Amino acid sequence: MTAKIEIVGPQRINGTVHISGAKNAALPLLAASLLSDDSLTLKNVSPLVDVKTMLNLLEELGAVPHITSDSLDFQTISLKTDSIDNFTAPYEIVKKMRASILILGPLLSRFGMCMVSLPGGCSIGVRPIDLHLKGMQALGANVDLRDGYVHASAPHGLKGAEIDFPIVTVTGTENVMMAAVLASGTTVLKNAAREPEIVDLANCLNKMGADISGHGTSTIVINGVNSLHHTEHSVIPDRIEAGTYAIAAGITNGCVNLIGGDFRSLLPSFVEKMEQVGLIFTDIDNGLRVESSGHIAPVDIQTESYPGFPTDLQAQTMALLCLADGESNIQENIWENRFMHVAELSRMGANIEIHNAHAKIIGVNGLKGAPVMATDLRASSSLVLSALAANGKTVIDRVYHLDRGYSCVKEKLAGCGVVIDRIQ
Ligand code: EPU
Repeated sequence: MTAKIEIVGPQRINGTVHISGAKNAALPLLAASLLSDDSLTLKNVSPLVDVKTMLNLLEELGAVPHITSDSLDFQTISLKTDSIDNFTAPYEIVKKMRASILILGPLLSRFGMCMVSLPGGCSIGVRPIDLHLKGMQALGANVDLRDGYVHASAPHGLKGAEIDFPIVTVTGTENVMMAAVLASGTTVLKNAAREPEIVDLANCLNKMGADISGHGTSTIVINGVNSLHHTEHSVIPDRIEAGTYAIAAGITNGCVNLIGGDFRSLLPSFVEKMEQVGLIFTDIDNGLRVESSGHIAPVDIQTESYPGFPTDLQAQTMALLCLADGESNIQENIWENRFMHVAELSRMGANIEIHNAHAKIIGVNGLKGAPVMATDLRASSSLVLSALAANGKTVIDRVYHLDRGYSCVKEKLAGCGVVIDRIQ
């Protein structure tokens, strides 16, 4: 039997949530430890299942992590990578987490070789890695697909190049940026992703001795260096976790203080859209207060790369708009199959029509608790949010998806007067 969450609604969130370190910043930062034979110390790492999976992968390669728990939700991880003796990301790990591909750039750059299993299918879309591979080839690597694995080699090292990404890719930008750090000469990445997680990675790499500029813009310039050294780096807060708790305030007619960062600049389009919906944002010390105005106005949204509206908040936003006073529209532009939560929200009484990548959401007066199934990470959090607002009992199955990207959900909600139960 898989773990489930049981929620009896309606409930109201009222309190303070300390936002954890960002999953999507921690994963590339952990992979970046492979670039140096000196250790890397990362602070503010959240104990998420995806973080554990990345640590397992690094251990498989020969890295030695030392983990100290500063609190239930904040860890410091020091990684020693001077005895890497395996260069393969096996299928058993990659199938659990596609971000395993992030070891490709660092291993190729430092050791001139790497093998990564092809990831296979995914619930939110095809998720190809062709742009990662083309980036490595542009830097001079030989890339071969054999027996379900990417075999990449650069026996004479990588060479700087100009790479113009045809579409914006987050982990693609991170992977090629890490590969270019130890390449000879200069690499210029055009149409690079501008996400805060890219900036965090570049900042950490620069502290390790890399020479990167332009991060946070769509042109990143990397001058190759011979080696990197030890540094200590604190992971930025998780803007998607923050956005999810902000929606909890909106959907439960409540109020939450999000602590741990400048969430206005981490989530510019999200805050703008949520203000249109009726949420009230107030700057507070080291964070943002989010309050419901008691009214949910309909809004039109399209997902885009940063600084646009993040796809990773699309499902949660849809849950909120199910209760809006009118018709909203969501265009999902990043992932072709990221509407799996729609069927589950409909089981709770939502009125949503889908045409390809477009969803029309007609607001209803209330949702009703029902047994539902989580299909991916962000879909699971949208179901938790709907369940908090719904009348009656909701049981969410397959919540292992939630554990990949949200830590201490039960504890954080309990701190805000909300009760959810986990059933094993
Ligand atoms: N794409 C290609 N070829 C590639 C790479 C990407 O065609 O080689 C396409 C994808 O199919 C997609 C688009 O480019 O249509 C953007 O994908 P991107 O590469 O940016 O996604 P990603 O790097 O695999 C990261 C996050 C995702 C988040 C997306 C978009 C991490 C570890 N993952 O994925 O996070 O949705 O960027 O912002 O950073 C999540 O946390 O729930 C999650 C899925």
